Amino acid sequence: MRAIEINKFGGTDVLNLVEIPQPVISSNEVLINIFAASVNPADSKMRQGLYPTNEKFTFPYVLGRDFSGVIETCGDSVTEFKSGDPVFGVLPAGREGTYLEKLAIDADLVAHKPNSLSHNDATAIALTGLTALVAIEDNLKLMANEKILIHGGAGGVGSYAVQLAHHIGAEVITTASPINHEYLYSLGADKTIDYNTEDFDKILSNINVAFDLIGGEVHERTLNILNTGGRIAYIAPLLKNAKPPRSDIKIIRPNVNRDRAHLLRIIELYELGAVVAPETKIIPLENIREAHNLIETNHVRGKIILKIQ
Ligand SMILES: NC(=O)c1ccc[n+]([C@@H]2O[C@H](COP(=O)([O-])OP(=O)(O)OC[C@H]3O[C@@H](n4cnc5c(N)ncnc54)[C@H](OP(=O)(O)O)[C@@H]3O)[C@@H](O)[C@H]2O)c1
Repeated sequence: MRAIEINKFGGTDVLNLVEIPQPVISSNEVLINIFAASVNPADSKMRQGLYPTNEKFTFPYVLGRDFSGVIETCGDSVTEFKSGDPVFGVLPAGREGTYLEKLAIDADLVAHKPNSLSHNDATAIALTGLTALVAIEDNLKLMANEKILIHGGAGGVGSYAVQLAHHIGAEVITTASPINHEYLYSLGADKTIDYNTEDFDKILSNINVAFDLIGGEVHERTLNILNTGGRIAYIAPLLKNAKPPRSDIKIIRPNVNRDRAHLLRIIELYELGAVVAPETKIIPLENIREAHNLIETNHVRGKIILKIQ
C-alpha cells in the first residue's frame, strides 16, 4: 500500500511516498481503507522533531492523526462494525500514522460516518472537533449568554470552536486576519478582531471564557481581560518564563483523550446542523510536501485534507 514516510527529521523534503506492507489486525481492531486524512500543525512539528517525545522515535515513521474511510475487515471480537461501513476517527494520543491507504485501529476509537458527510469533511472535523469539544464543553463548560474570546478562529480548531460556542448561545469574539472575517461571521462569530493591527486586550474586558489556540504572549495578555471567576483553556505552547497565573481565574490545559463518545457528539452536532466542516483545501497524498509547506504558513483557513484514495 502507499504511505508517506519520513526517515529522519527535517524539512518537507524528508516526506516521501513509499510502498509498505499493509497492517495485520488484532481481534479488537478493524482494518480501514483510508480515503482522507487531515494535515495538522502537529504533523509538521513532528516532522521537524520539535517535540520532546521525538527522542524516542524509530524510523521510518508515518505521520497523521485523523482519518475517514471504509472498513475492509473486522477482528474476531468486533461486533459494532462490518465490512463496507464508512467510519472516521482519531488515533490514540502518542500514536500516529494516517498518511497511508490502510490503517489497523482499535474499533473503540472509530465511529460510523453518515453518508451525507464526505470523507474529506469527516476528517476535517475529527481531531479539530474532538479538541474543541473537550476544551469548550468538557473543560470550560461554556454557557449561553457568556462572552467567549477564541484566539485563532480561522484555523482548523478555531473554525469548529466558533460554531460550537455560537451553538451553545455564547457571544463569540474571535481574532483573525481581515481576509477571514467574513468567513468567521458565516460560522457564527459576533465580533472579529484583526490581531495584526488591533490590541485585543485594549478593546476587550470582562471576558468570561477564553479558548487560546495561539499561546505565548497572546496567552499572557488574555489573562488580563478575564473577569473574576473566568476560565481559559489553551492548547498551544506558553512562554518559557510565563508569569504566575491569577488566582481568581481557572487556567486549563485540556487533556484531549480519544474515544468514540466524542466522535458521536461530533456527528450529533453535524446532524443538527450546528457544526459543519470548515473550509477545506484538498491535496492528493503524493503532493504531501505542498500540504506541509502550506500548513507552515500558519495562515490556512479551515483545514488541509489529504485525498488518499
Ligand atoms: N493540545 C492539543 O490537543 C491540540 C490539538 C489540536 C491543535 N493543537 C494546537 O493548537 C494550535 C491551533 O491548531 P489549528 O489546527 O487550529 O491550527 P491552524 O489551523 O494551522 O491555524 C491556522 C490559523 O491560525 C491563525 N493565526 C495565526 N497566528 C495568529 C494570531 N497571532 N492570532 C490569531 N490567529 C492567528 C491564522 O489566521 P489568519 O490567517 O486569519 O491570521 C490561521 O487561520 C496549534 O498550535 C496546534 O498544534 C493542539
